[in-house]
Amino acid sequence: MFDRNGGHGRGLDAERPEPAGARSQEHNPMSSANGTQADPAASLPKPEGLEGVVAAATALSHVFGEEGRLVYRGYDIHELAGKAGFEEVAYLLWHGRLPNGAELDDLRQRLGANRALPESVLATLRALPGDAEPMDALRTGVSALGAAEHGLFDATPDLDEAIAVTARVPSILAAFFRLRRGEEPVPPRPELNTAQSYLYQLFGREPEPRHWRPLEVYLVLLADHGMNASTFTARVIASTQSDLCSAITGAVGALKGPLHGGAPSKVLDMLNEIGSVANVEPWLTRALDGGERLMGFGHRVYKAEDPRAEILRGMAEEASDPAFFALSKTTEERALAMLEERKPGRRLYTNVEFYSAAVLAAVGLPGDMFTPTFAVARTVGWTAHVLEQMANNRLIRPQSEFVGPTDKHFAAIEAR
Ligand SMILES: CC(C)(COP(=O)(O)OP(=O)(O)OC[C@H]1O[C@@H](n2cnc3c(N)ncnc32)[C@H](O)[C@@H]1OP(=O)(O)O)[C@@H](O)C(=O)NCCC(=O)NCCS
Repeated sequence: MFDRNGGHGRGLDAERPEPAGARSQEHNPMSSANGTQADPAASLPKPEGLEGVVAAATALSHVFGEEGRLVYRGYDIHELAGKAGFEEVAYLLWHGRLPNGAELDDLRQRLGANRALPESVLATLRALPGDAEPMDALRTGVSALGAAEHGLFDATPDLDEAIAVTARVPSILAAFFRLRRGEEPVPPRPELNTAQSYLYQLFGREPEPRHWRPLEVYLVLLADHGMNASTFTARVIASTQSDLCSAITGAVGALKGPLHGGAPSKVLDMLNEIGSVANVEPWLTRALDGGERLMGFGHRVYKAEDPRAEILRGMAEEASDPAFFALSKTTEERALAMLEERKPGRRLYTNVEFYSAAVLAAVGLPGDMFTPTFAVARTVGWTAHVLEQMANNRLIRPQSEFVGPTDKHFAAIEAR
């Protein structure tokens, strides 16, 4: 593992040179001020939010932030979007190459055969309150899956497990979606592809091409994305030799936050609140004056437009209601201009979440199913990263900089 200056630290434990531009801590509480020995960890770089720290070597995907490029296993995302199906991309990420026809058929068949949920997982979902957030239901469902099928999800994650959990995640979401509406879960149909099957299990009717085709492109675009927060979470959990469902449960929790995958429903909320093209400017002015972050803009790595946003914008234009697309486009244009005025030099661009909202709404999903649908796609990336981590595992255990006191004396409770 390497930091951006070439430092080397497998398992994040080695001393590294100061990364250029890292916001390092000047304060060293363990130095001679209190008479204790200097802590070697205190001299290590401390980039805020681990910015620029390379936490693992991966051949899966890479975000070229300056260029605005995303590559899966050597293929630019533009090579795959709209051409490769989701299962083909899953195969690519898991195996490192595209499948031939027989290999693809075999994977489709295995995914189809793995969609049914154990009774105890369904019982767990039934026990949840109907107003629970779908991401909470997913986190709970994956955790319940690990307990229900502990013989399958043992301590050494493998491809069979990756396929099993990838096939079951949409079923968990669809079952909860129906249960909260007072409807029974729909048994999966193995002959359908992932995008078709997810929509079929959600709505209980034959999915229309105008819905499942854009959903499939969305799933391809979101399948993996370098060392994002939820992927890092999955790799950390896997590195302890925990099981795959634990790693995916943790990753779902990380994805839920609005700074990561939780933004698209908030984009929809924002656009609904704005309501009309005439209200774009006053709404954005009020939000930015109040110090709010505009959902769907900015990225830790991209300092150019997110290539997924560009593809999704085109899809949104085709798939969504023209008035809603016009509102989205005006909001985007004004937001970019105002962010540049107010945060000059920060290079804040449209991210993947902004047009995900329009595309997923056009597919027929309600806002609170947007981030869960992101999880349907990303389960492929998470599981592929776990398999890669386990192929050359070392416990991921970084250092912290201790900033507390060290010289206190215990006082009995009566004396406090
Ligand atoms: C994605 C995100 C978390 C990246 O954060 P980060 O790399 O930690 O960036 P920072 O928080 O250091 O932000 C850098 C500066 O840009 C500003 N900024 C970043 N994103 C912004 C946004 N969406 N709206 C307004 N200002 C934003 C910050 O306020 C900060 O300004 P400052 O230096 O004056 O304090 C951040 O851009 C964000 O919160 N975006 C909105 C949520 C979102 O769309 N999430 C989905 C991500 S795919």
